[in-house]
Amino acid sequence: MCGIVGYVGKENALPRVLDGLNFLEYRGYDSAGVAYFTNGKIKITKEVGRISVLEKKLPKDIYTNMAIGHTRWATHGEASKINSHPHRQGKFTVVHNGIIENYAELKKELKKAKVKFISETDTEVIPALLNYYYQQEPNILKCIQKLKNKVTGSYALGIICDDDQDHLYATRCGSPLIIAKAAKGNFIASDVPAILKYTNKYYLLDEYEIAQISMNKITIYNADLKEITKEELTFAGQAESILLNGYEHYMLKEIHEEDQVFLDTFNYYVTDNKFKKTMPHLKNYRQIHIVACGSAYYVGLIGKFLIERLAQIPVTVEVASEYRYQENFYNKQTLVIIISQSGETADSLAALRKAKEDGIDTLAIVNVIGSSIAREATYTLYIKAGPEIAVATTKAFLAQTTLMALLAIHISNRLDLLKHFNGLEQKIKYLLQQDYRQYAKAIYQEENIFYIGRQMDYALCLEGALKLKETSYINGVAYQAGELKHGTISLIKENTPVIGIATEAKVMAKTISNIKETKARKAQVILITNQDVPDKCYDKLIMIPKVHEIVSPILTVIPLQLIGYEVAKLRGCDIDKPKNLAKSVTVE
Ligand code: G6P
Repeated sequence: MCGIVGYVGKENALPRVLDGLNFLEYRGYDSAGVAYFTNGKIKITKEVGRISVLEKKLPKDIYTNMAIGHTRWATHGEASKINSHPHRQGKFTVVHNGIIENYAELKKELKKAKVKFISETDTEVIPALLNYYYQQEPNILKCIQKLKNKVTGSYALGIICDDDQDHLYATRCGSPLIIAKAAKGNFIASDVPAILKYTNKYYLLDEYEIAQISMNKITIYNADLKEITKEELTFAGQAESILLNGYEHYMLKEIHEEDQVFLDTFNYYVTDNKFKKTMPHLKNYRQIHIVACGSAYYVGLIGKFLIERLAQIPVTVEVASEYRYQENFYNKQTLVIIISQSGETADSLAALRKAKEDGIDTLAIVNVIGSSIAREATYTLYIKAGPEIAVATTKAFLAQTTLMALLAIHISNRLDLLKHFNGLEQKIKYLLQQDYRQYAKAIYQEENIFYIGRQMDYALCLEGALKLKETSYINGVAYQAGELKHGTISLIKENTPVIGIATEAKVMAKTISNIKETKARKAQVILITNQDVPDKCYDKLIMIPKVHEIVSPILTVIPLQLIGYEVAKLRGCDIDKPKNLAKSVTVE
């Protein structure tokens, strides 16, 4: 959600910034803009729509050593040129990711000081404030420092000032930002993929730290403007991991990485059917709250069933945006588990902070190394999914589910169950090789599709339905199979598409009865199961290899993801960048 890139160096800044923005496309955006100096003067170009539209508007022959760029996902004010970033007031030009919560109040105050605002955005108060402070004392670092006590909300900022065309400035609070060091220049960016083409060396900026970056020097200050030394990090993966490598879409590429992602995650925590030291000691907790958003929340639901069944510990699963505002009856033996691919989801981060404020231990299950949630939790367990670019999560879901299952085994000390993970990658590969187009063809013209299942199968129904909504804009809706008869079955008529999931032995017979109830009303049923069932209850069948329930969801999700992909393809949707969605939702 909103991407920031900036470059200052010996080489041409604009192509580098545009490259970076292109790699951040996956975060979701609806307009883009850049600012750069040419012959000592600032130039700003902004356009609604894709980065390619912006690129066409930029002069081809520009050579500039410093530029900042931004992709905007509209929050305050529609997607328009005026509301796009960079925003400028006086001598300051700024790109921003996050939300300035007290912007209305600040605008009012600044208007009294004769500042004129041209956009509807919250962001415009930032260059206005900086310019106002600068008029009082022309010290850029001090002006940025003053934001800390004035601005509430979240921000990652890239800042340039007309009076200092050798330095790019950056600071953050709540929203992510990295500073990267390349051979002939330095970058700022919202995320590592933006800079991988040029370097894999970077620093993570912590809350309220300020970076002052020139062609050959990066200086980082703490909130008191004392110079500090930061640990230089190296992105361990290959730069190729963020390229399509011949796949038509990132979503497809990422689904096809799932056998390896499973192995990498499993091997990171387990060796010789024993846990490595990478697993923290968690046996003293008597109650668990799992908090997450979107797909990560559905992983939480799977986790609830597994932990409760194996460890006999009560687990509640909550959507992060609700969790903060409700009564949470925790005690010193409660563990709050936050699941997040990006590690930056604002609602999940806020829930984590609330639990911490209340003195409760937190455990983060995260993909992005060094992300805010990963850094702030008491314990952090990484999934080993690698960079996930497609907005609709797939491989991270599979890796999170793998880790949830391992966590359930660890908490319950049921090490005997680890053997069920051995060789699972072959079964994943088998499912990846199947052709799911026939199922997609049967449903892609529908506007409503029902997913029904019980227990963990229901959590998978939710994920299957979300994949369809996200990538195909079809209203996929999930129901607990047993609940259907209490109202929703009234919607089932001839040819209504129903995807039934029945893999759980415990509830198999009951789920099959519920599926038959829809078939009796002439629904068009695609059944996903792992055992022979009466042939009268489905039109199409997807057989999943039969495995222990602890690993079963890892397999079942694969056809759901691939059906989602194939349906989106048949409908001609922009699969990797669905409308209105963002990969990393950094607003609450
Ligand atoms: C967004 C995405 C979802 C994702 C959710 C949580 O809404 O569109 O696909 O599941 O964020 O993201 P996280 O990074 O916290 O897992």
